[in-house]
Amino acid sequence: GTIEPLVSDYGAGGEIHQHAAEDSPRLTTAQGVTISDNQNSLRAGAPGPTLLEDFVLREKIFHFDHERIPERVVHARGFGAHGIFECTRAIPEITRAAPFQTEGKITETFVRFSTVAGSKGSFDLARDVRGFAVKFYTDEGNWDLVGNNIPVFFIQDAMKFPDLVHAVKAAPDRGFPQAQSAHDNFWDFISLTPESMHMIMWQMSDRTIPRSFRTMEGFGVHTFRFVNAKGESTFVKFHWKPRQGLQSVTWNEAVKTNGADPDRHRRDLWEAIERGDFPEWDLGVQMFDQAFADSFDFDVLDPTKLIPEEQVPVEIIGTLTLDRVVDNFFAETEQVAFCTQNVVPGIDFTDDPLLQGRNFSYLDTQLKRLGSPNFTKLPVNAPRGCPVHNFQQDGHMQTANRKGRVNYEPNGWGVGPRAHPLEGYVSFVDKTAGEKRRLRPESFADHYSQARQFYISQTQVEKGHIRDALIFELSKCEVADIRARIVAHLLRIDTELATAVSTGLGLAQMPEPVPAARPTRQDLPA
Ligand code: HEM
Repeated sequence: GTIEPLVSDYGAGGEIHQHAAEDSPRLTTAQGVTISDNQNSLRAGAPGPTLLEDFVLREKIFHFDHERIPERVVHARGFGAHGIFECTRAIPEITRAAPFQTEGKITETFVRFSTVAGSKGSFDLARDVRGFAVKFYTDEGNWDLVGNNIPVFFIQDAMKFPDLVHAVKAAPDRGFPQAQSAHDNFWDFISLTPESMHMIMWQMSDRTIPRSFRTMEGFGVHTFRFVNAKGESTFVKFHWKPRQGLQSVTWNEAVKTNGADPDRHRRDLWEAIERGDFPEWDLGVQMFDQAFADSFDFDVLDPTKLIPEEQVPVEIIGTLTLDRVVDNFFAETEQVAFCTQNVVPGIDFTDDPLLQGRNFSYLDTQLKRLGSPNFTKLPVNAPRGCPVHNFQQDGHMQTANRKGRVNYEPNGWGVGPRAHPLEGYVSFVDKTAGEKRRLRPESFADHYSQARQFYISQTQVEKGHIRDALIFELSKCEVADIRARIVAHLLRIDTELATAVSTGLGLAQMPEPVPAARPTRQDLPA
């Protein structure tokens, strides 16, 4: 559309002043005082000096000075939109989670897509994993499915996450590279982390250069639990399947796009929603019981493994439609706080050691990022489907303390909310036993089979992209030994791939493959 600047008058310095019309809002300070001149500070003489007394100037600059909040420690660059989730197949016999109780049930959602490694101002088409985080405002509280566009992860234990992220982000001395995986620290860490090999195959594939947020799949990654009204549990893996199809770009397109339009993905999503071309994803679940878990070739609690869809089919239970852009990027997309720990009755955790660590990390980091435990009161974070009543109080920026004298429970005043033993959240009753030790189970030890399965499942063209990506990325490593260490892992995945990468990198000689069996910690001398 057109915009017409309304000039009311010109100041003595030729500056333009716009005045409030009778029926339009007046510009005020945060204290509500109407401002008479928004172009000139209060000066002693002209041009000055400017007076300290100028509370209008000082307040304006003070507020501006404090506009920035810390960016997310990972997934800093993201883009969000509102949507609805419609249940297309009710599964009350499997889970009592509110969104899945009746066919046609609508649950409001907020979704944020993101890159992982780059800073907030980095470009959209970095070769990187994408976040796919969905907040369901259910009738029984908020449930966050904080997923990625790849079904597995780099590491098996939260203990390793800070090192992984340090290695993938810019090197601490030089401050680069900012948004790519192509550097020594990342590949050094990976070469010493065999459990990453499956994820690396996905990361070097076209999955990490999606054409659009609208053409990405999403995955909850971990095995979660569905729990029904009787307290019975079914293991579940979550999948988002884009109705727009799964599409990526080639590396050349990605590089050009980053130069020509670094905001490509956010612009694409915004424009699609604004023109009414609402993107849709089907929510699929792979459901299985303990007997399947016991018979499966890998540990279902190992987040570096997926469950092949041929073994456990993905069953579609609903559709997510993104139909509304945000009113304000900061208020919604920046301040939204997803957390794996946000579950509702019917959804529960498993003992996956990565998931257990994540459950601590998100809330902790959000206190730092958003600055107050009251961030749950922000509209984008507040539950919408149900009331919130508790005795939490005070803290920075509190706006919703309870009225009256009673701020504790149990109380004899007969006032305030109480727990509900039947309808409240009850954790799945699980048996646990064992020695308290820092010990990873042997069932987590096979790091190559699924990497190989993924690679050989690719078409020739896709295999070529993986090979080229490995050669390109590793060629950015200054230290030759790091390249050789990666090729030593590739030899355990696919000899042809390893040979092609080794040749492409011009390695002087083919390294020995990493050994199949190594001394375990238990074998080491005391
Ligand atoms: C964001 C930690 C693994 C998906 C974050 C944030 C932290 C974090 C601290 C920033 C949150 C914020 O400031 O609001 C961890 C830890 C992990 C881990 C400690 C492993 C131990 C994963 C995995 C996935 C994942 C396996 C995918 C399944 C995401 C997503 C976001 C995110 C999508 C962005 C959420 C948003 O859009 O606001 N993670 N993460 N993370 N993480 Fe993780």
